[in-house]
Amino acid sequence: MKIIDGKEISNKIKKEIITEVENMLDKGLRAPHLAAILVGEDEASQTYVANKEKAAKEVGFISSIYRFPSTISEKELLESIGFINDDNDIDGLIIQLPLPKHICEKRIIQAIKPEKDVDGFHPENVGKMVLGQETYLPATPSGIIEMLSHAKIETEGKECVVLGRSNIVGRPMSILMSRNSNPGNCSVTVCHTKTKNLREICKRADILIIAIGQPQMIDETYIKKGATIIDVGIHRIEDSSKKSGFRLVGDVHYESAAKLAGAISPVPGGVGPMTIAGLLQNTLKAAKKSLQ
Ligand code: GUN
Repeated sequence: MKIIDGKEISNKIKKEIITEVENMLDKGLRAPHLAAILVGEDEASQTYVANKEKAAKEVGFISSIYRFPSTISEKELLESIGFINDDNDIDGLIIQLPLPKHICEKRIIQAIKPEKDVDGFHPENVGKMVLGQETYLPATPSGIIEMLSHAKIETEGKECVVLGRSNIVGRPMSILMSRNSNPGNCSVTVCHTKTKNLREICKRADILIIAIGQPQMIDETYIKKGATIIDVGIHRIEDSSKKSGFRLVGDVHYESAAKLAGAISPVPGGVGPMTIAGLLQNTLKAAKKSLQ
């Protein structure tokens, strides 16, 4: 059984990005600049944004975080996005989701200039992704594609089952796995809350990609022998043996699934670091376009 080490792959990608940034600086260009908007005090969102900033700085990017209270109005937030859109010294902009209930996520995402939308969430970029045109791929699906590629997982002609249909992970993932590309060329099934016979469908998968947000739900009874298992979930569960009182687990019951899997991505150290690598790659791409 092969462990697909997202941390190691992401470190390799980060090293390549560091070299590219050094080359840009040698040419007298400025470093790529990633801006993040964080609204409110949600703890998980604060951690995600802090991790993105840390990674951006590690590869030599400029990083700015715009923090707003959860009481900010939609109009004020749209104005701030407008300023960032017009700032030629910023290449990429992400707006950490979820946003407070009184703000319409759709309107906010549509306000990001597509050229700066390094999350790949703007409808124009989603449309291009679906059509197979050059664009920013959303960071988690793009990171998973990189993982499959680095781990040399054969995908052509295989059955891929994606659990979850979110705009951020499941939906784009299913489209990328069915593209005429490598990795890709899979026959893809998307499962969701209304799916019947989930276990039977999962058991058909040569490649099973799980983003359902249920701690340790997928065990060996869902897995075909030799399948590749990609676990997108990340949850804190109580663990009194740890100093912190908790440990991180995914949507997969790792020990159980590992009995049958041919390859598996761990949590932590799997998809998480690859998502950040995907965001850094998109930001570098944005900077190269804007600095040409
Ligand atoms: N919230 C959960 N995942 C993501 C992500 O990939 N990008 C942003 N901006 N917000 C998120």
